[in-house]
Amino acid sequence: MNLILLGAPGAGKGTQAEIISEKLNIPQISTGNILRAAVKNGTECGLKAKSYMDAGALVPDEVVIGILKDRIAEADCANGYILDGFPRTVPQAEALEAMGVNIDKVIEISVDDEVIKSRLGGRRVCEACGASYHIEFNPPKTDGKCDKCGGNVVLRKDDAPETVIDRLRTYHEATAPLIDFYKGRGKLSTVVGQEEVADTSKLVLEAVNS
Ligand code: AP5
Repeated sequence: MNLILLGAPGAGKGTQAEIISEKLNIPQISTGNILRAAVKNGTECGLKAKSYMDAGALVPDEVVIGILKDRIAEADCANGYILDGFPRTVPQAEALEAMGVNIDKVIEISVDDEVIKSRLGGRRVCEACGASYHIEFNPPKTDGKCDKCGGNVVLRKDDAPETVIDRLRTYHEATAPLIDFYKGRGKLSTVVGQEEVADTSKLVLEAVNS
């Protein structure tokens, strides 16, 4: 099964993708995580992406489409995958179609901008392994240290409040048109993701199985 999780920054795509990935035993593909690893490793792609990411802007389509194409060709994607953060523009969605990829379902996680601002302001991520926490809703067991690897847990650079405003603007301008794009193809389900993580997971799984 090939799934897309769509939603604003901080809507909970990554959180939900991780949960469904375990339940369905198919990989979660986060273009954000792939790009952050490229930046950390100083690859050519990472060097191109860094300034866009730091500013809360989208990385150019051709860079991200190339990354995605390589990733879904890997062996672990043979039985399906969950796209978390891709596509993010109509040209990216069209590129997926041009690759011959059949998407079974697109699940939009809908969350108000004000809730998002508070979630991202409280998010902390592990510098070493990328695990995600929230100071209020999901804090690490030891303050500032990752439960999984002991790395330092810090504020993501693009979670600074002024950058979050730019990311939300980018979402509404460039990514939200995908809601109509996939509605027109009869693939879209929308779930409201404002309650607890487990409540949203239940709705997402119902949408996957519907
Ligand atoms: P990316 O990493 O994809 O960032 P994003 O879409 O902005 O998504 P986030 O990771 O911020 O949010 P999320 O929805 O996954 O929320 P999460 O589950 O963590 O991309 C980063 C950058 O890379 C982009 O800005 C762009 O520059 C570039 N990029 C990536 N893909 C691209 C593409 N295709 N094209 C072009 N550029 C691209 O949840 C957020 C927080 O809320 C967490 O702290 C979590 O614990 C908490 N939380 C989650 N759910 C709940 C809940 N129900 N209740 C309470 N708290 C919750």
